[in-house]
Amino acid sequence: MKKKYFIPLLITSILITLSFCTTAFFYNKKHIPSTSKEVPTMKNSKTLDKALESSSFLEKNTTKYQEIDYIDTNQFIEKINKLLDLEYSTHEINNIFKYINEKNIEKMLTMEKINVHNYYQVPNFEVDKISRYEKYQNIHNCSIEEAVIKVNIGLDHDFYTQIELSENVDEYTVLVNKYHSLENYEPSDLVSLSYSSNYKLREKAAEAFEKLVSAAKLDNVYIRPYSAYRSYETQKRIYNNYVKKDGQMLADTYSARPGHSEHQTGFAVDVWSEGYNEIRPNDANWLKENAPNFGFIIRYTEENMPITGYIEEPWHLRYLGEDIAKDVTEKNITYDEYYDLYIK
Ligand code: DAL
Ligand code: ZN
Repeated sequence: MKKKYFIPLLITSILITLSFCTTAFFYNKKHIPSTSKEVPTMKNSKTLDKALESSSFLEKNTTKYQEIDYIDTNQFIEKINKLLDLEYSTHEINNIFKYINEKNIEKMLTMEKINVHNYYQVPNFEVDKISRYEKYQNIHNCSIEEAVIKVNIGLDHDFYTQIELSENVDEYTVLVNKYHSLENYEPSDLVSLSYSSNYKLREKAAEAFEKLVSAAKLDNVYIRPYSAYRSYETQKRIYNNYVKKDGQMLADTYSARPGHSEHQTGFAVDVWSEGYNEIRPNDANWLKENAPNFGFIIRYTEENMPITGYIEEPWHLRYLGEDIAKDVTEKNITYDEYYDLYIK
């Protein structure tokens, strides 16, 4: 071989040998024969990572952690441990964290295992009312959604038999009904209506009411207040008079017991047609159509009677602010239902 060919040939053969060795090395690396002692493959799992970081990590739950989708919530690993102890499957735990609110989960941790899968799509269910929902559903043969809302309102008990205090009594969203009492609450910002200082409402409601009366006039509808804010004592007097006159059973269908009247919130007003001791049908129709634009709903309608427990009162306006009043009217549900679904 000529000397001038020797060096390039040497370099080429070194490069070929090197490339062959490298390929062989990586090929072998990928194909190491498995041994019987192989460790189970660890899936990438944020939940497992968090469990390993946590002082609550339990070795017996290692594979279970991997099957649970990570959720950024308080005491996540502790809750998983507890749910696994209660024998919820990892599939159930995933659904619990996906569909069930924190308050319900907290309660579930203190109870024996319960079957909640029927409630995943019912956002307003409450875990400690499940036996009441089931009973209501059996008696009324209704959907689970209906059972949940009716029981949440309290309708599986007779009116006035299970009474809770109304919450957020100063807010215009306050719920007052035959299951919720204001006791002797008094609002602090009552103002007189322009019609007469005998009629008072809370400031926001009064302002909205004046606008409603003016707008009605433009449509040739003339209305005036005939009862607005009523104190606990006033309601007591009114209710007791009706009881004397008609007996309690009948009085309960049209007059609230003291503490249970929306008039005591300062957000309710009854209206009559000017010159009449009633609301005339035309004016009532105008109110039905237009009151929500000013933040009021017609609270007691005939179809709502099974829920409210009151006969139709086309004159009773309840202030809820424009957005809620419009939404309640559009959804065509009682405020009791609306409160349970969207406010509580
Ligand atoms: N008439 C209504 C229900 C009330 O007394 O508040
Ligand atoms: Zn009224």
